[in-house]
Amino acid sequence: MINFWGAYIREVWTHRLKGVSRVALFGAGEHSSWLLDVVRPSGGATVVALIDDDAEKIREVKGLPVVLPESLAKLEVEAVVISSDANELALFNRAREVFPGVRIVRLYDNLPPGPYDKQGQLPNGIDTLVGPHEAVNLDTVVSLALESETKREIIRTLESLEPDPYVARMLDGYRRALNRFGDRWKYIDLWSVLFAYATLTSPKRYLEIGTRRGHSLALVCAGCIAAGHSELDVVSCDLWIANYAGTENPGPDFVADQMKRVGYDRPIRFVSGSTRDTLSELFSSPGETFDLITVDGDHSRDGARADLDQVATRITLGGMVAFDDINHPQHQYLGEVWNAVMPFHEGFETYVNPRNHTGIAIAIRYQ
Ligand SMILES: C[S@@+](CC[C@H](N)C(=O)[O-])C[C@H]1O[C@@H](n2cnc3c(N)ncnc32)[C@H](O)[C@@H]1O
Repeated sequence: MINFWGAYIREVWTHRLKGVSRVALFGAGEHSSWLLDVVRPSGGATVVALIDDDAEKIREVKGLPVVLPESLAKLEVEAVVISSDANELALFNRAREVFPGVRIVRLYDNLPPGPYDKQGQLPNGIDTLVGPHEAVNLDTVVSLALESETKREIIRTLESLEPDPYVARMLDGYRRALNRFGDRWKYIDLWSVLFAYATLTSPKRYLEIGTRRGHSLALVCAGCIAAGHSELDVVSCDLWIANYAGTENPGPDFVADQMKRVGYDRPIRFVSGSTRDTLSELFSSPGETFDLITVDGDHSRDGARADLDQVATRITLGGMVAFDDINHPQHQYLGEVWNAVMPFHEGFETYVNPRNHTGIAIAIRYQ
């Protein structure tokens, strides 16, 4: 029988450590013994030592020294490889903490969480992976969001709301681009990903952090209505900062009226106040999950990071989180916030586009 695991890990090792000559393994357990047998014959990067908190007890694995994390500098390695399948993510997080600035290499980050049956041909659970009909994939959402027809739907929807200068300017830009490029125009922003996702999947529960005058919310509602879905429940969190971005920001009654204009008249749960104070109560029940979440409220580095980090654990399978303004001229650090948060939440496929408008990032949960 072919051992899938040996071949797979050798491939990952060769690919990720191309051009690297000296590495250390982090973790000196059974996995490292197995890994050394698998990768030593591959002739690529040489393992010079293992690093483990229990170095004083273990001392040696397959002829290599085991040292404490504080001895890393003496090893003169170019990378540290996470050597565990059972606690891979925890060990990775710890490595980032104790080896700042060092290149850390993972071997299992694209797979369902381990441990795996190393004798088998395939990883445990591969037969239980989500089928293509069960969760929309990222490419489907992105391709619909990019469509010119989606922009026409956005124009139709936002034209029905109470006018304001910001939307007028945005829609003017949409119209000009459609005139100029026609159906070849491919463009993506928060509004288009929300409309596309709502149309494709008819989410049942939507959490919006940052609603302001209801533009993004109107697009989610309109997308559901276009798909013939009328069961959407909405939770809207906003601090209703007066005169936000130079336009009145009147609050819940105004937003509820705006939604009626697009044909959505179900009660909306408004959570007014800063998410720094309100999210912990909203999430006090572990069962509080959402199919779609927008994070577009607090634009400070710490505030946006806290919002994103909390909501990422509340997305249902196939659900999407949208994070706006990753390249906004006044908030350019928001791209870094995305990169600092999302890789630590497993099971998402992510899309980042900093080039269109103020930049958008989305993540869809596939496991
Ligand atoms: C950029 S606007 C939202 C725009 C909306 N998503 C759209 O596309 O139509 C940001 C909103 O977040 C709100 N906000 C700012 N800081 C907040 C905080 N700490 N907690 C909750 N809401 C906040 C502001 O009052 C404002 O209404």
